[in-house]
Amino acid sequence: MNMKQNISLFTSTLLAWYRTNGRNLPWRNTQDPYAIWLSEIILQQTRIVQGMDYWLRFMEKWPCVEDLAAAKEDEVMRMWQGLGYYSRARNLHKAAQQIVALGHFPNTLDGIKRLKGVGDYTAAAIGSFAFGLQVASVDGNFYRVLARYFGIDTPINTTEGIKLFAALAQEHLPQGAAADYNQAVMDFGATQCTPKSPQCEVCPLAETCVARREARVEQLPVKLKTVKVKTRHLALYYIRWNGMTAIHKRGSGDIWQGLWTVPEAEHLSPDLCSTAILLQKDVKHVLTHRIILADFYLLTLQQQPTLPSDFIWIKEEEIENYGIPRLMERLLSFSKGS
Ligand code: ADE
Repeated sequence: MNMKQNISLFTSTLLAWYRTNGRNLPWRNTQDPYAIWLSEIILQQTRIVQGMDYWLRFMEKWPCVEDLAAAKEDEVMRMWQGLGYYSRARNLHKAAQQIVALGHFPNTLDGIKRLKGVGDYTAAAIGSFAFGLQVASVDGNFYRVLARYFGIDTPINTTEGIKLFAALAQEHLPQGAAADYNQAVMDFGATQCTPKSPQCEVCPLAETCVARREARVEQLPVKLKTVKVKTRHLALYYIRWNGMTAIHKRGSGDIWQGLWTVPEAEHLSPDLCSTAILLQKDVKHVLTHRIILADFYLLTLQQQPTLPSDFIWIKEEEIENYGIPRLMERLLSFSKGS
């Protein structure tokens, strides 16, 4: 039986490209997992030209993991100075101590992943480069090359996309040559199939590239915009006057459009607010694009306060007949006991 794997055109073309175009980087001329791990942590958010200097200095000062583990954290932080994302340095130092405690550099994917600061991509990179593990290390370059060559518009930052691209990368991995394959895609994505102005005219994959054929190179890969979730503070005042409470219906252009809520600080005079009793502080409520932190107040009054004209007075028990947000239900459960 022929055990030789049928290597796809995609893979064989990339491997051939890599043999003549691959970048000669010092951490590629070693099998030392410590040196490789160090390079991957430094390169996580850093360009090669900048990272190289740091890698060389780290390797000179701490040539093996025992040296790094024995260093003072302050010293590691000082050496990291200028690279940014300083949690990387703290994690690096802790991981060095994890490795020393373990007695050897972990050589399985799960073992490598247990190191501080190491995620899926980094574990696969270290595993394939240092130990020849047959796993694809799917980074941003990999997503871009796959999305374009195979013409896939599934967003790369969704659960579905992450699964799909990981499976595709793994499917095309040439058995026994994972390290070259991973580095090939990395370099190909960084120098040839770049995010902006890719060099399609001189691309060895151009003839069979789906994005190229369909003129979708610029559109791929697709990444869903993530809306930054903002935190909003609300002070909600449950008023109790003459067996009644005040609510208003929320208008458009705001959260909870069409639902009923009690007054907020801005609807009341400051001296009224100051007489309210705090029932609960920082009640967290998660909406799609907002995190609400609400303070619940109870305001028991002998006289009817003046409120903006859109407020109505209803019997306390009638509030159940109005559409109210979940957060208001929580406020009611606090006010009922008070
Ligand atoms: N970026 C992350 N890892 C890298 C590596 N091993 N070589 C080049 N660039 C990288």
